[in-house]
Amino acid sequence: MAILSVSEISRHFGGLIAVDRVSFDVEDGEILAIIGPNGAGKTTIFNLISGFLPPAEGRIMFKGERVNGRPPHHLARKGIVRTFQNARLFKNMTVLENCMVGMHLHNKSGLAAISLRLSPVVAEEASFIKKACQILDRLGLYVRIHEKAGDIPFGEQRLLELARAEASGPDLLLLDEPAAGLNLLETQQLARQIKRIRQSGITIIIIEHDMRMIMSLADRVVVISSGQKIAEGPPFAVQNDPAVIDAYLGVA
Ligand SMILES: Nc1ncnc2c1ncn2[C@@H]1O[C@H](COP(=O)(O)OP(=O)(O)OP(=O)(O)O)[C@@H](O)[C@H]1O
Ligand SMILES: [Mg+2]
Repeated sequence: MAILSVSEISRHFGGLIAVDRVSFDVEDGEILAIIGPNGAGKTTIFNLISGFLPPAEGRIMFKGERVNGRPPHHLARKGIVRTFQNARLFKNMTVLENCMVGMHLHNKSGLAAISLRLSPVVAEEASFIKKACQILDRLGLYVRIHEKAGDIPFGEQRLLELARAEASGPDLLLLDEPAAGLNLLETQQLARQIKRIRQSGITIIIIEHDMRMIMSLADRVVVISSGQKIAEGPPFAVQNDPAVIDAYLGVA
């Protein structure tokens, strides 16, 4: 069953058509890659799906419900969580605090209870800390929990973004170029973690330029060029598609 179904979504910026009637489905439990040249419209598609931009037209269905135009925090609570192309960590906060930021989406205690620090709040906070530590441990970041996020190496900062997204309990995780700036070893480590997250039952859409990573990770690939979907299919078929090769060589 499709967890996400995107139909004919479009978005213009002034005279520029950034996304032009794009449609695709994402099946429950799969890893779908979105690829395409720079400026093709990939991040804009993420902005539309995650509510950071309302689509000009089209329909976005998530778990059978139309979610067009809902704000990001509402969609995050429903289970759509994203990471950003450029790291958006709170650099002066600790690794643990950064990881816990997304968990407060699911805070059950009311504001009054939180400010009074009633015992259920303290218990909930303790369970959040425990869960965050488990997630950070799986990502190899446990030794860093008390360090400032801005002080840890870049590769670990990218893993921390993944930890934070995982901690907010998504059903659908959108990763925007998570391997950008990573070396080969770090990229392989990241790919292993993404596979593990999928095995835990989370559906993933990943925007990525690293073809080797896509080949090893994605079940299916959607190719975007100049705002339009130009190909869709298994990674090896898409890689050899003449329209895709043309788009990358700039002769399409
Ligand atoms: N908020 C915005 N206002 C105006 N133009 C925008 C905005 N966001 C994106 N664009 C333009 O829309 C087009 C698609 O941009 P987008 O960031 O979606 O591409 P992309 O495929 O993610 O590229 P990259 O691989 O470089 O990240 C580009 O021409 C970009 O300049
Ligand atoms: Mg982008």
